[in-house]
Amino acid sequence: MKFTVAIDGPAAAGKGTISRAVAARFGFEHLDTGLLYRAVGMKGGDPVLAAQGLTSADLSRDDLRSLEAGQAASQVAVLPDVRAALTEFQRSFARRKGGAVLDGRDIGTVICPQAEVKLFVTASAEIRARRRWLELGGEAAEEAFEVVLAQVRERDDRDMNRADAPMRPAADAVMVDTSDMSIEDAVAFAVATVSARL
Ligand code: DC
Repeated sequence: MKFTVAIDGPAAAGKGTISRAVAARFGFEHLDTGLLYRAVGMKGGDPVLAAQGLTSADLSRDDLRSLEAGQAASQVAVLPDVRAALTEFQRSFARRKGGAVLDGRDIGTVICPQAEVKLFVTASAEIRARRRWLELGGEAAEEAFEVVLAQVRERDDRDMNRADAPMRPAADAVMVDTSDMSIEDAVAFAVATVSARL
């Protein structure tokens, strides 16, 4: 069976948690496509060559979740040749047998417009920045909350306004605003949406 769940939205909206939970619940494979861009951004050198030659070692670096990697990813992600180099891998993952969940920014619009389920997960910038800041250690974090908030806004702005594959909901995406939702409720909603299509 081929069945694709596309989960798009901005950073720290809850996409990752929802995607992992949906994949575990239905036995689908999960691909966090942001990691591909993070690995390209952190590899250094020519980003197009980095994207064309991405290895599993690049994808297992332990600094890919850092704020620095997020910013680097967003910068290389504006380059059409970088996006093109990563497209085929994502498309074949999406149509693998047994079902797939992909989370990113352009899965429902560009990578897999034929996905059986499309969710666009959002939350206010303040709430997303607070979640990210708490993950980094809250009061004990190296970065002040305001720095994290400024980075979230900068990344949203770049991801939404780039010319190639900008972040936006597909016309047929189901919108999920997690600002005032518990993660359990958000997961339950996503699971129910997938169940209804299976
Ligand atoms: O989801 P994330 O925070 O790990 O993504 C990091 C950056 O990578 C994001 O700011 C933009 C880029 N990205 C993208 O352009 N397209 C995707 N499908 C996934 C991520």
